[in-house]
Amino acid sequence: MHLSFLVGAAAALVGGTMSEKKSDKPYGSWESPITSKAITAGSVGLGGLKVVIDDDGKEDKVFWTEMRPQEGGRYVLCQYDESSDNKKKDISPPDSNVRTRVHEYGGGAVTFGADNLLFFSEFTTQQLHKLTVTTKDTCSSSTSSEPMTPTGYRFADGVYDATRKTIFSVREDHSNNPAPKDVVNEIVAIDTTTTTTTASKDSSNTVTVVVATGNDFFAAPRLSTTDATQKLAYITWNHPNMPWDATQLKVVTLSSASRHIVMDGMAHTDSHTVIAGVDGDTSVLQPLWHPHTGDLFYISDESGFYNIYKATMPQDFSTTPPASVNVLPMEFDFGGAAPGWSLGQQGFTFLQDGRLVATYTKQGISILVVANVAEPGPATQIQEFSAEDSTLPRQFGGVVAGSGTALYFLGGSPSTPTCLYKWDLSDAQQQQPPVLLASSSSLQFPSSVISTPQQITFATTLGNAYGYYYPPTNGNYTCTTESAPPLLVKAHGGPTACASTTFNAGIQYWTSRGFAVLDVDYGGSTGYGREYRRRLRKSWGIVDIDDVCAGAKHLVEQQLADKERLCIDGGSAGGYTTLGALAFRNDVFKAGCSLYGVGDLTALAGDTHKFESRYLDGLVGPYPQDEAIYKQRSPIESVDTLSCPILLLQGMEDKIVPPNQAETMHQALLQKGIPTCLKMYEGEQHGFRKAENIQDALDSELAFYGKVFGFDVPGGIDLKIDNM
Ligand SMILES: *[C@@H]1O[C@H](CO)[C@@H](O)[C@H](O)[C@H]1NC(C)=O
Repeated sequence: MHLSFLVGAAAALVGGTMSEKKSDKPYGSWESPITSKAITAGSVGLGGLKVVIDDDGKEDKVFWTEMRPQEGGRYVLCQYDESSDNKKKDISPPDSNVRTRVHEYGGGAVTFGADNLLFFSEFTTQQLHKLTVTTKDTCSSSTSSEPMTPTGYRFADGVYDATRKTIFSVREDHSNNPAPKDVVNEIVAIDTTTTTTTASKDSSNTVTVVVATGNDFFAAPRLSTTDATQKLAYITWNHPNMPWDATQLKVVTLSSASRHIVMDGMAHTDSHTVIAGVDGDTSVLQPLWHPHTGDLFYISDESGFYNIYKATMPQDFSTTPPASVNVLPMEFDFGGAAPGWSLGQQGFTFLQDGRLVATYTKQGISILVVANVAEPGPATQIQEFSAEDSTLPRQFGGVVAGSGTALYFLGGSPSTPTCLYKWDLSDAQQQQPPVLLASSSSLQFPSSVISTPQQITFATTLGNAYGYYYPPTNGNYTCTTESAPPLLVKAHGGPTACASTTFNAGIQYWTSRGFAVLDVDYGGSTGYGREYRRRLRKSWGIVDIDDVCAGAKHLVEQQLADKERLCIDGGSAGGYTTLGALAFRNDVFKAGCSLYGVGDLTALAGDTHKFESRYLDGLVGPYPQDEAIYKQRSPIESVDTLSCPILLLQGMEDKIVPPNQAETMHQALLQKGIPTCLKMYEGEQHGFRKAENIQDALDSELAFYGKVFGFDVPGGIDLKIDNM
């Protein structure tokens, strides 16, 4: 119930000139250049960063994926291209959509092979396509690809074995049309040489061998590189766990480095060696073999935080368990913002010289750590870099090593959208700024309309909770007629995820119009260690709601928000927190907007896809044993206590939170005579990707609050609200 992509990240700054005379206008009705149209016009979602180092180890080929709202939300594989005008070229064919649906959230849709070969998952059929990248090729229509796997299967998070010319990939089996919950996840080896040519599109004779099977989930197949790719490491877990609850890191020795994989009945995961996660209560993720020492690195939360561990593998590791050491013991989470939600996540990397590069976040600011991990024991020669003492962005992740001491990453700041940077770590000492290679936005907004977040800590039921407060900000306006602005509280999706302080036009849209915004990292959020993350165990619908309410009240007490105009919104799991806060705590918020939120937990328990089908066991309780609790915590069951206006926005093709959730909620609100409006968007799944729908969703929400709170929205859309 998470949002797996970033959109609406827009805009770098241009020098803002404060107007001499500010107009005095009610909060909410300020005019802003950050329009919904501007947000989508020049913005893309950036992700899937990958660097391929040339054979001679000198030249880097830098790839990433762009989610383009202007092209119907299509995902395009791009390559950095110094010589072209916009410094990039499209690699995937013009009619393709590079996106995998494994676990519905996907991730790791592209696998890079040798000799300019790459393999990508095509969204429409979920087949793996083989593509040869010719160096001359720009985004010409001659770029073509051929399917190499049969339909009925999904693939993700692959790794290419050049010796065997084989891809090791996570495969999700949808053939024979199983119920969504009954699909089979495995790790397979796909022989890339047996695929058919374009002339014959029958791709069913690709030789595929199951390498790991028998558990509910598999992720991150990673081949050792120091011993002729003989060992395969991977992550696996079973229902009812989610990857941040309990997983295992396992290793299997492959038959030999010969061309063809033969498992000889050894594909069952039970016959593979557990390297970490034996106690069944530890989350282990992101395995990566050290390119020189052959040690197996991974993140694990066994210390109470996601720290990085190193397992030194004995010759016969299946009888002598490896010794693991926490290389950077710290009370901070490594591994990226929300590890486990999508495949292909990797929060640390190794430079060519073998040094470890990793990031963690401290009070909303990313810290980059570079350390020597070649010696036995913890890391040595530890260097730290952050925005505070260098020119790095404030928040970043997904570090990827290039040739030499080159490091690539996606990063952003409160005033800069997500961008792709290259940073030479040999230059770092000389304080050279990272070089910008690509941006998620071409738009520029004046700095006078950019609100800068401040991290706040506030008291709540279980101690402290956290959030980012954004004051209303627009150099052209003031408001002297009202004592405090309306406040929009945002509840992030997940719920096991976190808010980001990287420039988000979807927040600035509000603050530049005179709203205060509070983006809450309620109990259960990632980035504050295991205990904080586990606050939500069996307590979803309690802790998160307590915290969003406590955050709103805190700002009211500080006179930063108007008690009578507190509103809340959230997508996905955040939509549930939104509906729950309105239903169960009707003394705090006066209006709300649920974007594809959950109204009925019971229906979700029966309805959602495999990956999350048992998520609620941990968040609420086992079903159906705890059915009473499910009912108690379902906003739909509390229509009696619902009293304030609610806007519902929903994608019609959503498999994660199906449309019936919004429809049922809408019916109930209609019957109770509560002002409400339901908007269903065609061709949208979980989260909106099409420009026109992203725009309409934002403008509808503003129009909704305008009508409910009675302020004018200059140039706003006409929204019909039922019961009003
Ligand atoms: C502020 O107002 C001036 C004059 O109307 C206008 O030209 C300018 O674009 C406005 N700035 C912003 C940030 O809206």
